[in-house]
Amino acid sequence: MNSKYESLFSPLAFPNGVEVPGRFVMAPMVINSSNADGTVTDADIAYFKRRAKTGQLLITAACYNDILAQWLDYQYGIFDDKHLPGMTEMAQAMKSEGAKAIMQVYHTGREASVTYRDYGVAYGPSSIQFPFLDYPVTGMSERKIHDVISFFGDATRRAIKAGFDGLEIHGANHYLIQQFFSTTSNKRTDRWGGSIENRAAFALAIFDEVKRVAKEETAEPFIVGYRISPEEIHGSDVGYTLDDSLYLIEQLVSKGVDYIHSSLWGVDSYKNKAEMGMYENQPINQVIKSAINKRCPLIVVGGISSADTALDALEYGDMVAMAAAAIVEPDLAEKIRNDRIEEITLDIAGRLEELKIPYGVKTVRWILESSGTLPQATLDVIDALEVPDHYIIASDQRTFN
Ligand SMILES: Cc1cc2nc3c(=O)[nH]c(=O)nc-3n(C[C@H](O)[C@H](O)[C@H](O)COP(=O)(O)O)c2cc1C
Repeated sequence: MNSKYESLFSPLAFPNGVEVPGRFVMAPMVINSSNADGTVTDADIAYFKRRAKTGQLLITAACYNDILAQWLDYQYGIFDDKHLPGMTEMAQAMKSEGAKAIMQVYHTGREASVTYRDYGVAYGPSSIQFPFLDYPVTGMSERKIHDVISFFGDATRRAIKAGFDGLEIHGANHYLIQQFFSTTSNKRTDRWGGSIENRAAFALAIFDEVKRVAKEETAEPFIVGYRISPEEIHGSDVGYTLDDSLYLIEQLVSKGVDYIHSSLWGVDSYKNKAEMGMYENQPINQVIKSAINKRCPLIVVGGISSADTALDALEYGDMVAMAAAAIVEPDLAEKIRNDRIEEITLDIAGRLEELKIPYGVKTVRWILESSGTLPQATLDVIDALEVPDHYIIASDQRTFN
């Protein structure tokens, strides 16, 4: 290997003592290739088996932990023991080349559009009619809040039973945990809303529950990570700032979180600068990294799709995650390691079968496009994927064209 890239393959230890021999992470990605009941398919397993060397840490798609928290058709879930056999096989596939397998778990909250279609409800911290949703959001009762916290515990038990090495709490991307943290979507006046301490309480209660169950279920070290969107700013609508996120990160780090995963989107977004607050115009990830001050690793993501962007991203975090690039060039890290950098390509023409890209990826093409990393020719190949008839959702005759 060119010595320039050695730091990408230097070992790293998590606070719980688990070590990984390199810095690459496969970022979580829904690929809508599962069964309608949220169980995984052979396609899901083959996809991860093919990506067993994509990183030293491989993260599943977000698994919904409540049947009333489904965003997309054919995403996988972890709300029932029926998901265990498939998840066990998937964990084995992920670990087959020595990587650590992490299950990402979430509750979608207001984003549960499939749940709303099929069950007539989408929960959030507060009852609000958002202009960007064509259904209302139902504010959660105290009892529902406790149920959802316990669902994270149930998911932890299942992740351990299935053989995962850890669990990532999905506190990012506008899902329920972020909705509680945001002043835009959390209008509660009880102990779960108002002050920053109250808005962070839901995230921290979930963290405590995951740790409690992990301690009960296994004597082995179990990695517990947390994914955060560092800012929620949409024009004049400010849900929270980086300053607020630093408060939550500090609480998580002092409680012993094993890593923080910063979620940013777009070309070179791992370098994004804070939009406002005390650190305005400073690189978000560098601010977080120095606040963490080596107490746990920081995973950064956003446009990493070449040897040089991966190397540069290490200036902003301790591990580098790839999403779009992991679908189309799962061998990127191995090609760097084996001095085959010139073979790195984001072109997938004629390689769909070899890359084990399932047809479900066609339905997330719009997300891939919005990440801005892939060339048009590759998006065109994904567009041309053929979707079989049985994949059409009967309940509303929706197709994915
Ligand atoms: C198809 C697709 C599905 C995604 N699904 C998830 C998900 O399940 N959980 C999550 O936290 N982020 C999800 N993301 C966001 C990615 O993990 C990542 O943060 C983002 O795509 C930026 O990385 P990239 O530039 O390498 O694509 C998804 C992204 C894509 C492209």
